[in-house]
Amino acid sequence: MSDQKKASGKPASEKSANALWGGRFAAGPSEIMEKINASIDFDKKLYAQDIQGSKAHCKMLVAQGIISREDGAAILKGLDQVQTEIEAGNFTYDARLEDIHMHVESRLKEIIGEAAGRLHTARSRNDQVATDFRLWIRDAIDQMEAALGRLQAALVDKAEKFAEVILPGFTHLQSAQPITFGHHLLAYFEMFSRDRDRLRDVRKRLNECPLGAAALAGTSFDIDRFMTARELGFDRPTANSLDSVSARDFALEFLATASICATHVSRLAEEIVIWSSAQFDYITLSHKFTTGSSIMPQKKNPDAAELCRAKAGRIIGALNSLLIVMKGLPLAYSKDMQEDKEATFDAAENFSLIIAAMTGMIEDMGVKSDKMLTSTKAGFITATDLADWLVRVLDMPFREAHHVTGTLVARAEAKGCDLDGLSLKEMQEVEPRITEDVFSVLSVENSVASRQSYGGTAPDQVRAQVKAARKRLAS
Ligand code: ARG
Repeated sequence: MSDQKKASGKPASEKSANALWGGRFAAGPSEIMEKINASIDFDKKLYAQDIQGSKAHCKMLVAQGIISREDGAAILKGLDQVQTEIEAGNFTYDARLEDIHMHVESRLKEIIGEAAGRLHTARSRNDQVATDFRLWIRDAIDQMEAALGRLQAALVDKAEKFAEVILPGFTHLQSAQPITFGHHLLAYFEMFSRDRDRLRDVRKRLNECPLGAAALAGTSFDIDRFMTARELGFDRPTANSLDSVSARDFALEFLATASICATHVSRLAEEIVIWSSAQFDYITLSHKFTTGSSIMPQKKNPDAAELCRAKAGRIIGALNSLLIVMKGLPLAYSKDMQEDKEATFDAAENFSLIIAAMTGMIEDMGVKSDKMLTSTKAGFITATDLADWLVRVLDMPFREAHHVTGTLVARAEAKGCDLDGLSLKEMQEVEPRITEDVFSVLSVENSVASRQSYGGTAPDQVRAQVKAARKRLAS
């Protein structure tokens, strides 16, 4: 409140504050303007990319004879010093200099003098920030892709170890058919595999260099955009200067991919919460990823899993917020676009956090196979096997088999037993052609072992899938 009062439209300083465009302005901005306008608090994260981009631009200006060799050399050396200062933590940030681009340039000028002013020839902050941001997201993609690979490896290890452990598979969270735990874990391996593919795909489209688009229209200087693109590891320069400075779909795609992946992490987190409850008691979480309660001494809460679930919401929020920022903007650059960074940085940071937490939880997870098996005894879980037996052995149409099995389930329910607790006589009262052989399909072991179709839950299949998954991970 007092801040606001103080700031009410008064210039922050009497001099025309901005060294980079002061020529046009008689007075500096109001304090409140400085506050709303400055992005340095968050875009200082882009310092390395900004300096990398400036060096590439400088080398190109020299190669094209647009600035002299001497000035070029001084700029490169000065930029190195700026980077060293920032990394050593003895760099002074000042909101009046708005953003990282102006901070770097203004410090460069203090270090090397007037030659620093030549660096901004044939570029603008608009193509500069677009370049920096692409470089930053490209690094983030590479890190996340690798992190997802580690999560997949943890899943494959556990899947192999628990290829034969049987638990109920659910639909509607009701016991459906018995499955193997390894098979369940490999389902997530597949999801994360597609997420990695999506990341690689985003990277491919993102990897074009906007530098040299200048403010929006290109430049009259004889620049070499292919050289700067190459220098920065881009596949090529962007093809349209307006699009170059206006596009943020690379960030949107990154956030969309992160959102989808976070949704996968969140579903697994939700299962971990359920599995680790006293009612299910399928798994134990290590003390490294749980917390206690200050009042209930018995508690071991799955906080890491819960936070993975919650942070998915936060990441999806970042996607939404950037979509909404972008949707009404005319071409080319508008300052609205400065709001692209915080959401993206925050999403990326939390994204890598949840992948790391999930990897740790999976690596440390203890599996209670006996509990899993016991819970397959409830819910008539082999009813489908019984129906399939009627089809296969008695040549019954599946719909009729379904009906007969339903009647048998009702009988078992009334008797208070599982399907294999019915006697042959009781079964024959419903369908006289049933023989002793039917009991061979009513055990959960036989049920899972029989599901040998490609991608099915049989332990043999799971082991084959583990082998294939390891190959995919290695390639
Ligand atoms: N800080 C700005 C951003 O993040 C840099 C670009 C500023 N361009 C401008 N024309 N004011 O978007």
